Amino acid sequence: MRKYFKKLPRELREVISQASQVSQETRMPAYLVGGCLRDLILGVKNLDLDIAIEGNGIIFAQNLAQKLKSRLKTHERFGTAILILSDGLKVDIATTRQEKYPYSAALPVVNSGSLKEDLKRRDFTINAMAVSIAVDKEQKIIDPFGGQDDLSSGRIRILHNLSFKDDPTRILRAIRFSQRFDFKIEPKTLLLLKEAISDGLLDKVNPHRMHDELILMLKEQNPFRPIKELDDLGALSFISTKLKIGKSTQALFKSISKEIAWFVKNFPARRQLDTWLVYFAALLAPLTWLEIKLIIYRLGLRKGEQKRVTSYYRGRKKLISSLSKKQVAPEQIFLLLEPLSYETIILLSATTPNKNFKKYLADFFEIYNGMRLCISGHDLGGLGVLPGPEYQKIFAKVLTAKLNGQVRNRQTELALIRKLVQAT
Ligand code: CTP
Repeated sequence: MRKYFKKLPRELREVISQASQVSQETRMPAYLVGGCLRDLILGVKNLDLDIAIEGNGIIFAQNLAQKLKSRLKTHERFGTAILILSDGLKVDIATTRQEKYPYSAALPVVNSGSLKEDLKRRDFTINAMAVSIAVDKEQKIIDPFGGQDDLSSGRIRILHNLSFKDDPTRILRAIRFSQRFDFKIEPKTLLLLKEAISDGLLDKVNPHRMHDELILMLKEQNPFRPIKELDDLGALSFISTKLKIGKSTQALFKSISKEIAWFVKNFPARRQLDTWLVYFAALLAPLTWLEIKLIIYRLGLRKGEQKRVTSYYRGRKKLISSLSKKQVAPEQIFLLLEPLSYETIILLSATTPNKNFKKYLADFFEIYNGMRLCISGHDLGGLGVLPGPEYQKIFAKVLTAKLNGQVRNRQTELALIRKLVQAT
């Protein structure tokens, strides 16, 4: 297994070496588990470490955080902790546990358990392996369900027949992993997955959990594939039975992906995009306004997420027609686009081939976006203007001048307001 640890970035190797020491000092066996081990074996980059502790995960995490001088967040109730390392790397630490589902799609009842029990509660064989991080131990992969075999044959396989019944979100996870790694869902697993879908189990899951799984799916490198697969299996109805995933969705997703790449390449300093949100909003295109509002409510989108989806559907026709004209003033471009989120603008761009529109959009991002005045009400007050509607009129004029490149800094803005005040 050492050969796998070698593939990790230096900082994570250091974490493992320190964790190994903590394991010795506290006499708590520690293991690398789940997706990070799967990806290590596959040779896929994964910067999140998952460590399972036979003992007390929180005490272990506190010791490790002290050694690494890193930030620590603990969830006492779940026996879990997260270490946040300097450059955004994350280490999840959890006490090994067993889970029992009181009924289908319920949240599991959790008790501490052995490593074996911890592996047994997991979704797929490829995610149910562990390796000890102790330096003195033989570095053999603990693989009770044949995960290595399934990894090398490219198979997604559940551990027992009730897996999808217990946790129907695994339906989405199976599709997501199979598309991501280009793996086949093993025949019996597929049969049980289809059965779970036709039994309507996805509708039994708390919609907020479905929202989280859907986001993960839409964050995949190529989200069209799992979404199409979900639709082919008749499982998209947990969002709405009216969604249509066809050639036009594929073309739209492709166009969104291009727009995102353009944005990231040209504006690397801007805030990171929630790319999943652009795809999610695009999916809702066949629905009515009321249906969109209902879905957003049911899936429990946060306020900011809701706004970014609805603002696309609310004003898009008027906005596209205004910005497709040959001559549009900078002020108009600014007023139309500045209130919108980057995600909304990217979706607008992906659905609008018009050349003028694209040019105004580029201008917006390059020149106008975030433009603010350097002067304030204080400066106007100093010139004897009394607070009131006059303030807004003057500010609007200065902003127009700034968007047109006629004023550029505080000095020229001040000169302009002096002129405007004298003229009134
Ligand atoms: N897990 C599970 N059932 C779920 C969710 C998670 O059994 N419904 C287990 C799996 O063993 C998984 C681990 O918890 O490997 C960690 O979950 P998560 O971080 O969601 O999955 P990863 O496998 O790390 O997936 P990704 O590569 O997408 O981060």
